Amino acid sequence: MSGTRDPRLKEIVDALVEHCHAFLKQERLTDAEFEQGLAFLRAVGQACNERHNEVVLLADVLGFSTLVALLNSADASGRTPGALLGPFYRGGSPEYANGQCIACEDSTGAPLFVHARVLDTSGRPVPNATVDVWQASPVGLYENQDESQPEHNLRGRFRTAEDGAFNFRSVRPAGYPVPVDGPVGVLLAAQERHPYRPAHLHFAIFAEGHATLVSQVFADDSDHLDSDVVFGVNRRLVGKFEHHEAGSGPHSEQRDVYYTLDFDFILAEGTPTFPTPPIQ
Ligand code: BEZ
Ligand code: FE
Repeated sequence: MSGTRDPRLKEIVDALVEHCHAFLKQERLTDAEFEQGLAFLRAVGQACNERHNEVVLLADVLGFSTLVALLNSADASGRTPGALLGPFYRGGSPEYANGQCIACEDSTGAPLFVHARVLDTSGRPVPNATVDVWQASPVGLYENQDESQPEHNLRGRFRTAEDGAFNFRSVRPAGYPVPVDGPVGVLLAAQERHPYRPAHLHFAIFAEGHATLVSQVFADDSDHLDSDVVFGVNRRLVGKFEHHEAGSGPHSEQRDVYYTLDFDFILAEGTPTFPTPPIQ
Protein backbone atom coordinates (compact mmCIF):
# COMPACT_ATOMS: atom_id res chain seq x y z
CA MET A 1 0.00 0.00 0.00
CA SER A 2 2.96 2.34 -0.44
CA GLY A 3 1.00 4.20 -3.13
CA THR A 4 -2.15 4.64 -1.02
CA ARG A 5 -2.59 8.35 -0.40
CA ASP A 6 -5.48 8.24 2.07
CA PRO A 7 -3.66 7.66 5.42
CA ARG A 8 -6.73 6.42 7.29
CA LEU A 9 -7.62 3.94 4.57
CA LYS A 10 -4.01 2.72 4.60
CA GLU A 11 -4.08 2.23 8.36
CA ILE A 12 -7.43 0.43 8.38
CA VAL A 13 -6.77 -1.94 5.48
CA ASP A 14 -3.26 -2.65 6.76
CA ALA A 15 -4.62 -3.63 10.18
CA LEU A 16 -7.48 -5.63 8.67
CA VAL A 17 -5.13 -7.67 6.50
CA GLU A 18 -2.74 -8.21 9.40
CA HIS A 19 -5.49 -9.44 11.72
CA CYS A 20 -7.07 -11.64 9.04
CA HIS A 21 -3.71 -13.22 8.21
CA ALA A 22 -3.15 -13.88 11.93
CA PHE A 23 -6.59 -15.50 12.10
CA LEU A 24 -5.88 -17.72 9.07
CA LYS A 25 -2.52 -18.79 10.53
CA GLN A 26 -4.09 -19.54 13.89
CA GLU A 27 -7.04 -21.51 12.54
CA ARG A 28 -5.31 -23.21 9.58
CA LEU A 29 -8.52 -23.31 7.54
CA THR A 30 -8.83 -26.21 5.12
CA ASP A 31 -9.60 -25.38 1.49
CA ALA A 32 -13.15 -26.60 2.06
CA GLU A 33 -13.61 -24.37 5.12
CA PHE A 34 -12.27 -21.35 3.24
CA GLU A 35 -14.69 -22.04 0.37
CA GLN A 36 -17.54 -22.42 2.84
CA GLY A 37 -16.69 -19.05 4.39
CA LEU A 38 -16.61 -17.33 1.01
CA ALA A 39 -19.91 -18.95 -0.01
CA PHE A 40 -21.42 -17.74 3.27
CA LEU A 41 -20.38 -14.14 2.57
CA ARG A 42 -21.78 -14.42 -0.96
CA ALA A 43 -25.10 -15.65 0.45
CA VAL A 44 -25.17 -12.76 2.95
CA GLY A 45 -24.82 -10.27 0.10
CA GLN A 46 -27.43 -12.05 -2.00
CA ALA A 47 -29.93 -11.97 0.87
CA CYS A 48 -29.96 -8.15 0.82
CA ASN A 49 -32.52 -5.98 -0.90
CA GLU A 50 -34.09 -2.55 -0.34
CA ARG A 51 -36.24 -3.89 2.50
CA HIS A 52 -33.73 -6.19 4.18
CA ASN A 53 -30.06 -5.82 5.16
CA GLU A 54 -28.40 -9.15 5.99
CA VAL A 55 -24.93 -7.54 6.15
CA VAL A 56 -25.98 -5.34 9.07
CA LEU A 57 -27.61 -8.35 10.69
CA LEU A 58 -24.36 -10.33 10.43
CA ALA A 59 -22.35 -7.48 12.00
CA ASP A 60 -24.97 -7.34 14.77
CA VAL A 61 -25.02 -11.04 15.73
CA LEU A 62 -21.21 -11.17 15.79
CA GLY A 63 -21.12 -8.30 18.30
CA PHE A 64 -19.30 -5.96 15.89
CA SER A 65 -22.02 -3.31 15.86
CA THR A 66 -22.34 -3.14 19.63
CA LEU A 67 -18.57 -2.96 20.06
CA VAL A 68 -18.31 -0.04 17.61
CA ALA A 69 -21.27 1.73 19.26
CA LEU A 70 -19.73 1.39 22.71
CA LEU A 71 -16.20 2.35 21.63
CA ASN A 72 -17.68 5.52 20.14
CA SER A 73 -19.85 6.47 23.10
CA ALA A 74 -18.88 4.86 26.41
CA ASP A 75 -16.70 7.35 28.26
CA ALA A 76 -16.48 9.09 31.60
CA SER A 77 -18.55 12.11 30.51
CA GLY A 78 -21.76 10.60 31.84
CA ARG A 79 -23.43 10.53 28.44
CA THR A 80 -25.90 7.79 27.61
CA PRO A 81 -24.12 4.87 25.97
CA GLY A 82 -24.97 4.15 22.37
CA ALA A 83 -26.48 0.93 21.10
CA LEU A 84 -26.45 -0.57 17.63
CA LEU A 85 -28.62 1.01 14.93
CA GLY A 86 -29.86 -2.40 13.75
CA PRO A 87 -31.14 -3.31 10.28
CA PHE A 88 -34.61 -1.74 10.64
CA TYR A 89 -33.88 1.99 10.80
CA ARG A 90 -35.58 3.88 7.97
CA GLY A 91 -35.26 7.52 7.09
CA GLY A 92 -38.27 9.73 6.45
CA SER A 93 -40.37 8.85 9.49
CA PRO A 94 -43.51 10.93 10.00
CA GLU A 95 -43.11 14.05 12.12
CA TYR A 96 -45.30 14.23 15.21
CA ALA A 97 -46.05 16.87 17.82
CA ASN A 98 -45.30 15.98 21.40
CA GLY A 99 -48.02 13.86 22.94
CA GLN A 100 -49.11 12.26 19.66
CA CYS A 101 -49.37 8.52 19.07
CA ILE A 102 -47.02 6.63 16.73
CA ALA A 103 -49.24 3.52 16.62
CA CYS A 104 -51.93 3.31 13.96
CA GLU A 105 -55.47 3.62 15.20
CA ASP A 106 -56.37 -0.06 15.19
CA SER A 107 -53.13 -1.22 16.87
CA THR A 108 -53.89 -3.71 19.57
CA GLY A 109 -51.59 -3.99 22.57
CA ALA A 110 -51.05 -2.32 25.92
CA PRO A 111 -50.71 1.47 25.60
CA LEU A 112 -47.26 2.84 26.43
CA PHE A 113 -46.71 6.50 27.37
CA VAL A 114 -43.12 7.63 26.98
CA HIS A 115 -41.91 10.79 28.74
CA ALA A 116 -38.28 11.54 28.06
CA ARG A 117 -35.80 14.36 28.41
CA VAL A 118 -32.67 15.17 26.46
CA LEU A 119 -29.97 16.74 28.64
CA ASP A 120 -26.31 17.64 28.26
CA THR A 121 -23.58 16.24 30.50
CA SER A 122 -24.04 19.18 32.92
CA GLY A 123 -27.74 18.37 33.31
CA ARG A 124 -28.93 21.29 31.19
CA PRO A 125 -31.88 20.67 28.84
CA VAL A 126 -31.18 20.33 25.12
CA PRO A 127 -34.10 22.05 23.33
CA ASN A 128 -34.91 21.66 19.65
CA ALA A 129 -33.24 18.25 19.31
CA THR A 130 -34.69 15.93 16.67
CA VAL A 131 -35.59 12.50 18.01
CA ASP A 132 -36.24 9.55 15.72
CA VAL A 133 -38.12 6.71 17.40
CA TRP A 134 -38.78 3.23 16.00
CA GLN A 135 -39.99 0.02 17.56
CA ALA A 136 -41.45 -3.42 16.94
CA SER A 137 -45.14 -4.13 17.40
CA PRO A 138 -46.73 -6.02 20.33
CA VAL A 139 -46.12 -9.21 18.32
CA GLY A 140 -42.47 -8.33 17.72
CA LEU A 141 -42.55 -7.21 14.09
CA TYR A 142 -41.37 -3.94 12.52
CA GLU A 143 -43.83 -2.47 10.02
CA ASN A 144 -41.55 -3.34 7.08
CA GLN A 145 -41.72 -7.01 8.11
CA ASP A 146 -45.47 -7.08 8.55
CA GLU A 147 -48.09 -6.67 5.79
CA SER A 148 -50.78 -5.89 8.33
CA GLN A 149 -49.12 -2.67 9.54
CA PRO A 150 -49.39 0.62 7.64
CA GLU A 151 -46.28 2.22 6.15
CA HIS A 152 -44.14 3.85 8.90
CA ASN A 153 -46.31 2.51 11.72
CA LEU A 154 -44.51 2.66 15.09
CA ARG A 155 -41.96 5.10 13.69
CA GLY A 156 -41.92 8.82 14.37
CA ARG A 157 -39.86 11.94 14.63
CA PHE A 158 -40.21 14.39 17.53
CA ARG A 159 -38.61 17.64 18.61
CA THR A 160 -37.59 18.48 22.16
CA ALA A 161 -39.22 21.45 23.91
CA GLU A 162 -37.44 24.24 25.84
CA ASP A 163 -37.04 21.94 28.84
CA GLY A 164 -35.48 19.20 26.66
CA ALA A 165 -38.59 17.03 26.97
CA PHE A 166 -40.40 15.00 24.36
CA ASN A 167 -43.25 12.61 24.86
CA PHE A 168 -45.43 10.30 22.86
CA ARG A 169 -47.91 7.51 23.08
CA SER A 170 -47.41 4.08 21.56
CA VAL A 171 -48.09 0.43 22.25
CA ARG A 172 -45.76 -1.73 24.28
CA PRO A 173 -43.31 -3.56 21.98
CA ALA A 174 -42.58 -7.25 22.37
CA GLY A 175 -39.17 -8.87 22.27
CA TYR A 176 -38.55 -10.69 19.00
CA PRO A 177 -36.26 -13.04 17.14
CA VAL A 178 -33.96 -11.40 14.59
CA PRO A 179 -34.68 -12.65 11.04
CA VAL A 180 -33.46 -16.26 10.75
CA ASP A 181 -34.64 -17.11 7.23
CA GLY A 182 -31.27 -16.20 5.66
CA PRO A 183 -27.62 -17.22 6.08
CA VAL A 184 -27.34 -15.44 9.44
CA GLY A 185 -30.11 -17.72 10.71
CA VAL A 186 -28.12 -20.72 9.48
CA LEU A 187 -25.09 -19.41 11.38
CA LEU A 188 -27.06 -18.85 14.61
CA ALA A 189 -28.51 -22.38 14.39
CA ALA A 190 -25.04 -23.85 13.78
CA GLN A 191 -23.76 -21.90 16.80
CA GLU A 192 -26.72 -23.22 18.82
CA ARG A 193 -27.65 -19.68 19.88
CA HIS A 194 -31.16 -18.38 20.40
CA PRO A 195 -32.18 -15.52 18.07
CA TYR A 196 -34.05 -13.27 20.58
CA ARG A 197 -33.80 -9.62 21.52
CA PRO A 198 -35.46 -8.27 24.67
CA ALA A 199 -38.30 -5.76 24.20
CA HIS A 200 -36.93 -2.30 23.42
CA LEU A 201 -37.46 1.07 21.79
CA HIS A 202 -34.92 2.63 19.42
CA PHE A 203 -33.93 6.30 19.59
CA ALA A 204 -31.65 8.43 17.41
CA ILE A 205 -31.16 11.93 18.81
CA PHE A 206 -29.68 14.76 16.75
CA ALA A 207 -28.91 18.19 18.23
CA GLU A 208 -26.78 21.14 17.19
CA GLY A 209 -23.45 21.14 19.05
CA HIS A 210 -23.88 17.56 20.28
CA ALA A 211 -22.70 14.14 19.17
CA THR A 212 -25.58 12.13 17.75
CA LEU A 213 -26.86 9.47 20.12
CA VAL A 214 -28.14 6.24 18.57
CA SER A 215 -29.39 4.03 21.36
CA GLN A 216 -32.11 1.76 22.70
CA VAL A 217 -34.12 1.51 25.91
CA PHE A 218 -34.92 -1.99 27.13
CA ALA A 219 -37.96 -3.03 29.17
CA ASP A 220 -36.84 -3.98 32.67
CA ASP A 221 -39.29 -6.90 32.83
CA SER A 222 -38.35 -8.39 29.46
CA ASP A 223 -37.00 -11.87 28.77
CA HIS A 224 -33.47 -12.23 27.35
CA LEU A 225 -32.06 -9.09 28.99
CA ASP A 226 -28.91 -11.04 29.82
CA SER A 227 -28.60 -12.85 26.50
CA ASP A 228 -29.58 -10.35 23.77
CA VAL A 229 -28.51 -12.04 20.52
CA VAL A 230 -26.91 -8.77 19.35
CA PHE A 231 -25.37 -7.80 22.74
CA GLY A 232 -27.14 -4.41 22.87
CA VAL A 233 -28.21 -4.41 26.52
CA ASN A 234 -26.34 -2.70 29.29
CA ARG A 235 -27.59 -1.56 32.69
CA ARG A 236 -27.71 2.14 31.77
CA LEU A 237 -30.13 1.34 28.94
CA VAL A 238 -32.70 -0.59 30.96
CA GLY A 239 -35.79 1.55 31.60
CA LYS A 240 -38.59 1.01 34.10
CA PHE A 241 -41.73 0.08 32.17
CA GLU A 242 -44.14 0.98 34.95
CA HIS A 243 -47.33 -1.08 34.94
CA HIS A 244 -50.61 0.75 35.77
CA GLU A 245 -54.08 -0.67 36.31
CA ALA A 246 -56.99 0.81 34.34
CA GLY A 247 -58.30 4.00 35.93
CA SER A 248 -55.17 4.64 38.00
CA GLY A 249 -51.85 6.46 37.66
CA PRO A 250 -50.92 9.44 35.49
CA HIS A 251 -53.29 8.45 32.65
CA SER A 252 -56.26 7.43 34.76
CA GLU A 253 -58.57 7.93 31.74
CA GLN A 254 -57.21 4.61 30.39
CA ARG A 255 -59.75 1.78 30.36
CA ASP A 256 -57.12 -0.99 30.20
CA VAL A 257 -53.82 -1.83 31.76
CA TYR A 258 -51.10 0.49 30.44
CA TYR A 259 -47.41 1.29 30.88
CA THR A 260 -45.33 4.43 31.35
CA LEU A 261 -41.64 4.91 30.69
CA ASP A 262 -39.65 7.90 31.95
CA PHE A 263 -36.13 8.17 30.67
CA ASP A 264 -33.36 10.81 30.49
CA PHE A 265 -30.94 10.78 27.57
CA ILE A 266 -27.62 12.54 28.09
CA LEU A 267 -25.77 13.90 25.06
CA ALA A 268 -22.08 14.72 24.83
CA GLU A 269 -20.81 17.84 23.11
CA GLY A 270 -19.77 17.24 19.54
CA THR A 271 -20.80 17.44 15.93
CA PRO A 272 -24.02 15.74 14.78
CA THR A 273 -23.67 12.86 12.32
CA PHE A 274 -26.45 11.13 10.42
CA PRO A 275 -26.52 7.34 10.09
CA THR A 276 -27.31 5.90 6.70
CA PRO A 277 -30.56 3.94 6.94
CA PRO A 278 -29.80 0.24 6.22
CA ILE A 279 -33.17 -0.10 4.43
CA GLN A 280 -35.42 2.29 2.53
C1 BEZ B 1 -33.19 -4.22 16.05
O1 BEZ B 1 -33.15 -3.95 17.22
O2 BEZ B 1 -34.01 -3.64 15.35
C2 BEZ B 1 -32.29 -5.28 15.52
C3 BEZ B 1 -30.96 -5.24 15.82
C4 BEZ B 1 -30.14 -6.22 15.34
C5 BEZ B 1 -30.65 -7.25 14.56
C6 BEZ B 1 -32.01 -7.29 14.27
C7 BEZ B 1 -32.84 -6.30 14.76
FE1 FE C 1 -35.19 -3.38 17.39
